[in-house]
Amino acid sequence: MNQGNEEEQLQQIELFNKTLATYLEYERFTMNSLQKEQNTISGLYLKYGKYLDEKQILTKFKRLNEAVEKNSHFLHTVVASQLYATNQTETNFQKLFQEIVQQFSITEYNISRVRTIIKMVVRDWSSEGLEERKSSYGVIKKYLLEALPDLEDRKKFSILVPGSGMGRLAFDLVREGFQTEGNEFSYLLLIMSNFLLNSGLAVKELPIFPYVSDTDNILKIEDRLQEIKIPDTNTFEIPKDSKFSMSGGDFVDVYRKEEYKNTYDCVVSCFFLDTAHNILEYLEIIKNILKVGGVLINFGPLTYHWSGMNNEVSIELSLQEINEILIKMGFEFLIDEIKSTSYSNNQKSMHHTNYDCAFFVCKKTSK
Ligand SMILES: C[S@@+](CC[C@H](N)C(=O)[O-])C[C@H]1O[C@@H](n2cnc3c(N)ncnc32)[C@H](O)[C@@H]1O
Repeated sequence: MNQGNEEEQLQQIELFNKTLATYLEYERFTMNSLQKEQNTISGLYLKYGKYLDEKQILTKFKRLNEAVEKNSHFLHTVVASQLYATNQTETNFQKLFQEIVQQFSITEYNISRVRTIIKMVVRDWSSEGLEERKSSYGVIKKYLLEALPDLEDRKKFSILVPGSGMGRLAFDLVREGFQTEGNEFSYLLLIMSNFLLNSGLAVKELPIFPYVSDTDNILKIEDRLQEIKIPDTNTFEIPKDSKFSMSGGDFVDVYRKEEYKNTYDCVVSCFFLDTAHNILEYLEIIKNILKVGGVLINFGPLTYHWSGMNNEVSIELSLQEINEILIKMGFEFLIDEIKSTSYSNNQKSMHHTNYDCAFFVCKKTSK
């Protein structure tokens, strides 16, 4: 192994362990935040005691703490499964957890990502996420199933899902018989999706409490304590001889390589194009990796992820400009519609965001 490769591998291991430490530190950080919240309200007893029900407040925080403990138990299970899978010889997981945590300095920002990820689990792997999935993944699936009604054709049809997140869309396509590859660059997401896809969990085996840290737009205390049971499906129920893989890494770094040229029959970008620093680069790579006759199926808004960030390149084109560029690249539009959906919506919140998403299908017509 050359030195460059070795260094890169060490960096990957470091990043992997830091991600595990982030999951392990969720409980400490989140309990601290809850304690601060409780202290603030307790500080009002002297002046506003007659309006506040101390017993109710104590019960509320006791229950919130219990919910955080259960989330933490879930995250510890995820971490333990990863350590088990990476052939760690140490069997005392508590000791191993401590050693990992001690190596890193985790920030509140890192933990806020974990809280977001727990909510993304609801989108992809719970019955509560079903409506949201129907109005996004469902639209993509419907198109593909109508285009390829025969299972034997689907088995030969290769799809890449970049920015596959929690992996549900890629999984659903595998379940319909397509050869599917997901791609994701966030270790937090890769580790979580790997756990959910490969642990053989029974339906509704694990409870999570995704909204326990939310303090805005809460109608009732109970809504913060919503228990969601995951997963909603058995991930081992896929057709025989299914081809399902996941690549870890930045979409640009991985797929700009020559070896991927003219490889896929389809690229499905769902809530992904706007993650680009330079969307032209994404589109060019997609064009290169598609076979002639292959299609790009896009579903998503244009909430450019790098917009407004200092020192970050962010090219923010309108949908119309993107369509014109795709045509200049040699794509022919088969479908060009707007479809409404939400993203990681908490059904019980007072706040809901809806996106009018660009749903388009375009075919690569030339090399
Ligand atoms: C908004 S989420 C969408 C996830 C999923 N497709 C869905 O619809 O729920 C965008 C995803 O793209 C991933 N992502 C962002 N930039 C990426 C890149 N350059 N390469 C690979 N994945 C990327 C993020 O980590 C995240 O999982």
